[in-house]
Amino acid sequence: MRLELPPLKLGRLTIDTPVVLAPMAGITNTAFRRLCREFGGGLYVAEMVTTRALVERHPGSLRIIKHDDDEAVRSVQLYGVDPVTVGQAVRMLVEEDRADHIDLNFGCPVPKVTKRGGGSALPWKTDLFTQIVQTAVREADKGSVPLTIKMRKGIDEDHLTYLEAGRIARDAGVAAVALHGRTAAQFYSGTADWSAIARLREALPDVPVLGNGDIWSAEDAVRMVRETGVDGVVVGRGCQGRPWLFGDLQAAFEGRADRIRPGLKDVGEAFFRHAELLVEYFEEEGRALRDIRKHVAWYFKGYAVGGELRAQLAQVNTLEELRGLLDTLDAEAPYPGVDAEGPRGRAGSPKRPALPHRWLESRTMDADQSRDIAAAELDVSGG
Ligand SMILES: Cc1cc2nc3c(=O)[nH]c(=O)nc-3n(C[C@H](O)[C@H](O)[C@H](O)COP(=O)(O)O)c2cc1C
Repeated sequence: MRLELPPLKLGRLTIDTPVVLAPMAGITNTAFRRLCREFGGGLYVAEMVTTRALVERHPGSLRIIKHDDDEAVRSVQLYGVDPVTVGQAVRMLVEEDRADHIDLNFGCPVPKVTKRGGGSALPWKTDLFTQIVQTAVREADKGSVPLTIKMRKGIDEDHLTYLEAGRIARDAGVAAVALHGRTAAQFYSGTADWSAIARLREALPDVPVLGNGDIWSAEDAVRMVRETGVDGVVVGRGCQGRPWLFGDLQAAFEGRADRIRPGLKDVGEAFFRHAELLVEYFEEEGRALRDIRKHVAWYFKGYAVGGELRAQLAQVNTLEELRGLLDTLDAEAPYPGVDAEGPRGRAGSPKRPALPHRWLESRTMDADQSRDIAAAELDVSGG
């Protein structure tokens, strides 16, 4: 059945297929984005970059925000906790014409981040959250660059923030609000609460709302749209080792039933291509091959690849070595079906989020917290 979903409008941008590649630190670099893009339409967000490192022009940060020449929409995600630095980072992106879309990360649950008040801990402090979003929107507006936010439900079930944060962001003029249906305390465990996404959609009729969490297939994406009424879906772990999911998503949103079901040979070729693109990205073969190792389990999930070969793949050092190993794969092995589907990637277990001292006692910042927040961006990556 055809799913009637119009293109996603983000300010002046129109995304024909209302699908967003979720920013994933260590994953969504130019190499992976290129692979995904080749399969389908959508918005492909880079890994998050910290605003301080960006304004200080750290080489690693400049690499993260780099886009390929043929990326029609250059999308960057910022992680920041200080309104002034966030404003500077947005201004830099806009004035130097380095981005067509900017997203702010308010969803990161990593203890290193939340214990300093950043990521998913931040919307709890409505004064700081408001200042950051207002400043970012103001700077982005100067270049007509749409600015969006991505957040979680809250800190835990007793400290939910998403409805209020959504309204604040809407009032500040964001182009869309994305919600990952988990609390910080859940990390990546359990299941995403799509009913919260539906509630947010209902609470914000005047701004696009994007739903995120546990989309493992095109069918899941369609189901999320039907159940929640969102304007688009944000897909993270489901595409790890499976860039062709974006082909399935585009097909589903166009009402087509065809799905990409690669045999082992095609998966091996995609894996090799990913490694080659990482060599281009890192400009260093050794580093790229170390990086591709973490993708082994995702690409070959469910496929008939023995433990010994998997172990060897997870230790490759050169493209030549990789080619030799991939040549030993069974070229006739077909798509394994359900074994290749379902959840993949980070899961973990729920735990109490690490927060700054007395963070939950008030919805606004006290003097100590304001002082400490300045140090919150140091030494952060991943979300
Ligand atoms: C390895 C990894 C890195 C991530 N990095 C980021 C990030 O940089 N910024 C962000 O907003 N979310 C980050 N996330 C969260 C995802 O964007 C997404 O919200 C989350 O995985 C839930 O979606 P999913 O169920 O489709 O995976 C990361 C998730 C994973 C698994």
